Parts: sequence; structure tokens; C-alpha cells
Amino acid sequence: MTGGSEAAPTGRQRRRAVVYLYTQTGQLREVAQALTAPLEAHGWDIRWVDVRPRDAFPFPWPIRRFFGVFPQAVDPEALVKLVEPAGGFAAAADELVVLAYQVWYLAPSLPIRSLLKTHPEAVRDRTVVSLIACRNMWYSAAIEASGLLRSAGARRVDVVAATDTRGSSTTLVTTLRWLLTGRRAPFLWFGRAGVGDDELTRVAAVGQCIAESRPCPQDAAPIVPALAAADVIAGKAFRKWGATVRSMRRFGGAAHAATLITFVFSLGIAIVIGLPLLAFAAVVGGERFATRVRGYVYGRISFDLPVVDEAVSA
Ligand SMILES: Cc1cc2nc3c(=O)[nH]c(=O)nc-3n(C[C@H](O)[C@H](O)[C@H](O)COP(=O)(O)O)c2cc1C
Repeated sequence: MTGGSEAAPTGRQRRRAVVYLYTQTGQLREVAQALTAPLEAHGWDIRWVDVRPRDAFPFPWPIRRFFGVFPQAVDPEALVKLVEPAGGFAAAADELVVLAYQVWYLAPSLPIRSLLKTHPEAVRDRTVVSLIACRNMWYSAAIEASGLLRSAGARRVDVVAATDTRGSSTTLVTTLRWLLTGRRAPFLWFGRAGVGDDELTRVAAVGQCIAESRPCPQDAAPIVPALAAADVIAGKAFRKWGATVRSMRRFGGAAHAATLITFVFSLGIAIVIGLPLLAFAAVVGGERFATRVRGYVYGRISFDLPVVDEAVSA
């Protein structure tokens, strides 16, 4: 990843970036600040645009709302209305775009999907750094976001991902507790929920690379092959489950709720059985498995389109 061609300064002109951001707990803002601090230290102007849904999502989440948002979250066509910021959503021609989003059920959160679908002017013709902060399953969401960015006319997309790097079973407990009760602090033998300082330091190093317009020496979005494979398979299954739950609405609230509850149980079973199975496949498959998964994911989350000379193409 490099700093992109957008903000190439002429003379003493300052380089500029705009950060589009929706966060409930502030975690994503912290991660975005880690990325942009080195840019500011290099004299960049950073503009922050809060993406706010007109009807706010609750935090902490009541359990029924948390599972109830699933069918919408996994529906690629589902949108929410956004509050229009004073200056609109458009990015300026010389701004590098940082699109900061979190993952909801293996998809980009509803406010960010809505931004990309209803306000393509935020990314059209721009170089975009997609900045993800989530528990640890961001792969399907990044694939969907990349498709949306392409449709919206983004020219180039690089991905930076920050996750909670502890074991999946630990983060399942700490993240659910955090989202459903608002409590993030360590408890029992579990540590603090969410993205830790190690990840903030890594993201800041990526910011340093962007600030200096040099290629990143490290993985900006490290891929864990077993998790990525599980995520991609589950992402497809989630969409089908979501469509089934939505279609059950016409049979009334009870049928809809029953399908949703069945989903929650099968999700639990998939986590207990599916994840260890894929971890086993990753061990048996070794480097071949890892290379295939990395190739699949990297090939779908970022792109760099050639600049079309309009005079030639007309
Ligand atoms: C409804 C919902 C679904 C989520 N699904 C996922 C998920 O599929 N994968 C993941 O890694 N994190 C998931 N998370 C965690 C979020 O990505 C994020 O880390 C957390 O909500 C805090 O982010 P924020 O405060 O910046 O909004 C989910 C959170 C919510 C609220």
C-alpha cells in the first residue's frame, strides 16, 4: 500500500484526507486516529465526516435488537436513511478517502453500506483506504465493501484491518458481553474487549507508510487462513439464512421469530463445530491452504483500476 496519488502536493500545498466514520463505542474512531496521527504529523489536513443514521442504533444492544438486525445486516439491498452533514458527503478531488467501518454479521455495518450505495460522491474517482475494526471476522465484509466501492466508482482501494487478536472463543465472550451490556473492562480471566494497543501500534505504522508515500513493509490487513475460510463460507450461508428469515415475515411474527431463533442456534453449532474443523483443515493443508485462502481474499478486497484517458476512450 502507498499513500495514493490523490494528494500529490503542488508547491507548498498541504496534503488532505477525509475520514468517513460510523462508530457506536468510539473504538473505530480510536483506530482511525491511530492511522491518521502520522499523516497529521507530516502536515496533512484531516477532515472528519460522521456517518449518522437518522434512527440511531442502540448501544448497548438489547438482545432482541442485536439478533433482530441480522436479516437486514446481511441483505446487500438493505439501507438506512442517513443524516446529511452540513457540507454534504462529497470528497474533494485532492482528498485521500479513509472509509472506516465495522462489521455487522460478516457484512459492512448498515450505515456504511448505505453511505456507499446512496452517496457514491464520497468515493467516486478517489483512492480509498478501507479501515476496518471488528472482533476478527472482516473478510466477507471487505469483499462486499470492495464491490460497493467499485460500483460507486472508486479508483483504487487498499484495506487496513484491526482486530481483537486473542483467541476466537475468548473474543466471542468478551465481544458479546461488551455489545449486550456495554461493559468492556476485563473480568474473570478474560481481558478487555475489542482492539488492543498492539493493533493500534500496527495501524499507526501503516499510517506512517501512507504519510511517507512508501509501500508498506507489513501486512496492513493480516489474513488468518482458517478464520478467513470460515468467514467466506459463513458469509454466503448468512445471506441465505437472512433471505429465509425475511421471507418468513409474510407468515407472521411467530414464524419470523422462530426462524431467527433457529438461526441463532445453528450459528452456535457452526461456531462450535465448523471453526475447529476449518482450523484442522488449515493445519493439514499447511502452506497450500494458506496461499489459496490469501489469494482468494486479497484478490477480492482491493483493486487499482488503470486511469482511463477520456480523450482516447471517447
Ligand atoms: C450487530 C453486530 C454484529 C457484529 N458482527 C460482527 C462480525 O460478524 N464480525 C466481527 O468481527 N465483529 C462483529 N461485530 C463487532 C463490530 O464489528 C465492532 O467491533 C463493535 O461493534 C464495536 O465497534 P464500534 O463501536 O466502532 O461501532 C458486530 C457488532 C454488532 C453490533
